[in-house]
Amino acid sequence: MTARGAADWRSRARRLALLLSERGDVTDDAWRSAVGAVPRHRLVPEAYRQEAGTGAWQRIDTASDGGLDLVYSPTTLVTALDDSSGHLLASSSSTKPDLMLRMLHVLDVHEGHRVLEIGTGTGYNAALLAHRLGDDAVYSVDVDGELVDVARHRLSEIGFEPTLVAADGVEGLPEHAPFDRIISTCSVPSVPWSWAEQLTSDGKMLLDLKVGNAGGNLVALDRRPDRVEGRFTARWATFMTMWHGRDAPVPRAPRATCSTERSTTAPPRPWESHRVVWFLAQLALPRHVGIGLRLDPDTLRPVAATLDSPDGSWASVDLDGAGGIRRVVEAGPIRLWASVEDAHDRWVGFGEPDWPRFGVTAQPDRQWVWLDVPAGPNTWPLPPPSDL
Ligand SMILES: C[S@@+](CC[C@H](N)C(=O)[O-])C[C@H]1O[C@@H](n2cnc3c(N)ncnc32)[C@H](O)[C@@H]1O
Repeated sequence: MTARGAADWRSRARRLALLLSERGDVTDDAWRSAVGAVPRHRLVPEAYRQEAGTGAWQRIDTASDGGLDLVYSPTTLVTALDDSSGHLLASSSSTKPDLMLRMLHVLDVHEGHRVLEIGTGTGYNAALLAHRLGDDAVYSVDVDGELVDVARHRLSEIGFEPTLVAADGVEGLPEHAPFDRIISTCSVPSVPWSWAEQLTSDGKMLLDLKVGNAGGNLVALDRRPDRVEGRFTARWATFMTMWHGRDAPVPRAPRATCSTERSTTAPPRPWESHRVVWFLAQLALPRHVGIGLRLDPDTLRPVAATLDSPDGSWASVDLDGAGGIRRVVEAGPIRLWASVEDAHDRWVGFGEPDWPRFGVTAQPDRQWVWLDVPAGPNTWPLPPPSDL
């Protein structure tokens, strides 16, 4: 890299640190200095951006002027694509720095802590941690061995040598436990108990609890003698789902044909407009429910939201409706939209609570979501960790 190039990244990294401070994402000097000092473009030398109209992926060289502006901005960068499903899909990304720093703040990471990260990806977060805590205190695992090799090489080139391991993060890293903090940058449908076991007695973990399709948020859990427990964070965020290298495609039955029609007042796209409602609905819906939009064949304008479950059940809800009353069509053995309506009614009945009124308790043999207090009366069971 030329001297000018190096100067360019440093001033951009310092500007990013300032921006994150102004926005309240960074509140202490140690993280401010880490953001200003870690060359994100060396860990993310190229990224992919999807064109809005065609959906085609474009490669971006992050050392170019435009690329440097992008890499030192609060933007998630797609860093790996996978075509095993027949479509090019993002399979790894560098989490946007503002979110990463907010997560480190919520996790209350301090000098002297040993930290385990699940989901190494590019190694950017591992570099921030290593800058603040030192290489010896930072451990990171990723299920993708190639990503781990690349991240290890790039981190070492810029002077960081945290311990990186290629493994399924669902097991944590027992050989290096205990950890004061565990942070997961891929989502899980329930809390892996191995993580709780690998925390110190006053340890804390932060993870993205995602039930089903896009239903969940970040939750911060404190270690207690017999459980981990804590609340969801106020600001919503989502990460890619944890995979295990053995996940088989879910078989789907043909769509049921005999449908019924009725009206509904529940919001038609709760996964965008009412995320708490969608989370509560997902806790009741079967696994692997797909969400989508039906387009008008002439105008290509979205006209209905759709739900599909693997057993062939489906629901379609009009996006427009006079006075907030919309038409819903359902078919198949499970009335999918009824779960959304029930979740919406209960949420309204609770006084429309936002995320921090909800929390999670996990014990070795059971875990649940709760409203206001862990002991209930309003609780929802989570899938057993053995299903992970
Ligand atoms: C959003 S990226 C991580 C971003 C990363 N922390 C960074 O700073 O660039 C999510 C990562 O989780 C990894 N992942 C997915 N399933 C996993 C698993 N079972 N165990 C460990 N890592 C996993 C993916 O390979 C991917 O690299």
